[in-house]
Amino acid sequence: MRALEDDLFPSTPGKVKIERAGGAMNRQLHRCFASTSTMFLWALFLVAMTASYLSFQSFVDTSSKYFQASWGGLHWERQIRSSAAPRRPPGSSPNAGISVLVTGAAGFVGAHCSLALRKRGDGVVGIDNFNAYYDPSLKKARKALLASHGVYVVDGDINDARLLAKLFDVVPFTHVLHLAAQAGVRYAMENPSSYVHSNVAGLVTLLEACKSADPQPALVWASSSSVYGLNDAVPFSESHRTDRPASLYAATKKAGEEITHSYNHIYGLSVTGLRFFTVYGPWGRPDMAYFSFTRNILQGKPITVYRGRDHVDLARDFTYIDDIVKGCLGSLDTAGRSTGSGGKKRGPAPYRIFNLGNTSPVTVPTLVAILEKHLRVKAKKHVVEMPGNGDVPFTHANISLARHHLGYKPTTNLDAGLKKFVKWYLSYYGYTRGSSKSL
Ligand SMILES: NC(=O)c1ccc[n+]([C@@H]2O[C@H](COP(=O)([O-])OP(=O)(O)OC[C@H]3O[C@@H](n4cnc5c(N)ncnc54)[C@H](O)[C@@H]3O)[C@@H](O)[C@H]2O)c1
Ligand SMILES: *[C@@H]1O[C@H](CO)[C@@H](O)[C@H](O)[C@H]1NC(C)=O
Repeated sequence: MRALEDDLFPSTPGKVKIERAGGAMNRQLHRCFASTSTMFLWALFLVAMTASYLSFQSFVDTSSKYFQASWGGLHWERQIRSSAAPRRPPGSSPNAGISVLVTGAAGFVGAHCSLALRKRGDGVVGIDNFNAYYDPSLKKARKALLASHGVYVVDGDINDARLLAKLFDVVPFTHVLHLAAQAGVRYAMENPSSYVHSNVAGLVTLLEACKSADPQPALVWASSSSVYGLNDAVPFSESHRTDRPASLYAATKKAGEEITHSYNHIYGLSVTGLRFFTVYGPWGRPDMAYFSFTRNILQGKPITVYRGRDHVDLARDFTYIDDIVKGCLGSLDTAGRSTGSGGKKRGPAPYRIFNLGNTSPVTVPTLVAILEKHLRVKAKKHVVEMPGNGDVPFTHANISLARHHLGYKPTTNLDAGLKKFVKWYLSYYGYTRGSSKSL
């Protein structure tokens, strides 16, 4: 029972409380079989069975309440339909426009992509479970921003098969942009099951919904540069080894690449996997270094700068959010059709994987120096050796494949991108020591 509960709800801590009657029940059962005075103990046994039935019922009630609370009804369906309807500006491209289900739409990349799609006239419906991995109020603010542009974000979990079926029932989505995931490398040691919940189980639930939808949508989803793991041939190319992940996060993303391949192979689902390289920018993720550095520098707190072995600085191929958005939209626009229906494919469908990076790695001390310049505050640096907890020392993307097939061409360097990030940060959180809204 315990394992089941944890599988269902690990990424939403505190959202659901379920009574645990299992322990008491086991004790009673044990006493029943150890004793010979029968009548009384059979009665106890009955009580225990009833208790376990009731606790199961309350579990079922609680979970369906959790999954149903925020969706359904005619008004809701109208909102979904209106959000999903393409609205090409008059006189622009003659294409009808696409209808995209964006998972993780209240997340950093999801919110930016949803907005960009809406602005060019496509229909967008979002889904996000607003989990508390980082401050949900930032996710709520992104949702409000999307709402002001006519994009509706459903509060729901991608593990909720009934909700997904309902969404495909209401809207014949042409595309799914799947960005919902448990992100972060180090958090996997604290809460490993949240990675399985969202990145493996949730992915399969979503793929089942896509496979069953009629028509089947084309799927574009976020893998990660972390799949390169212990690979040290640079720059990282799509053909390099990805079978040596250095973290559970990376392992679940690699698993996602294999799982999506099987759905492509069996059901003819069109799949594009995107290996993002350290995405940053306005409305970014508070758990990432550039973000927490900014907060701490403004608050006069020390920042911890990790250094690799032999005093080599860590470096990342930081990629600005607008470039990533162009890569995602380019992927949606070039994704071939899915070929299946009714559980069978009519022919092969495309399966593609692309790096989306910036091709110019920057060391962490350089990142800090750029932040100091834009914030006009000196950082208190605390340099420590990197613990072996899953972060790789260096990432560098070879993007020639994405350039060729998606027309992907990043244009924002780290200095220009961080300038925009800092401007957003100060306007969102305020100037006063970086925290008019709490994080
Ligand atoms: N930002 C990066 O540097 C980076 C790098 C590589 C890969 N990625 C991948 O890109 C995608 C988007 O990342 P991001 O930076 O926007 O992260 P994010 O955490 O801001 O966005 C993910 C969103 O998904 C939601 N979510 C998580 N589990 C869910 C579930 N089970 N059901 C419904 N919603 C759920 C979260 O609430 C969150 O809003 C993720 O798949 C991530 O793994 C990001
Ligand atoms: C980049 O990848 C392409 C294949 O996509 C390959 O032909 C090329 O040699 C790679 N470049 C480098 C510098 O590794």
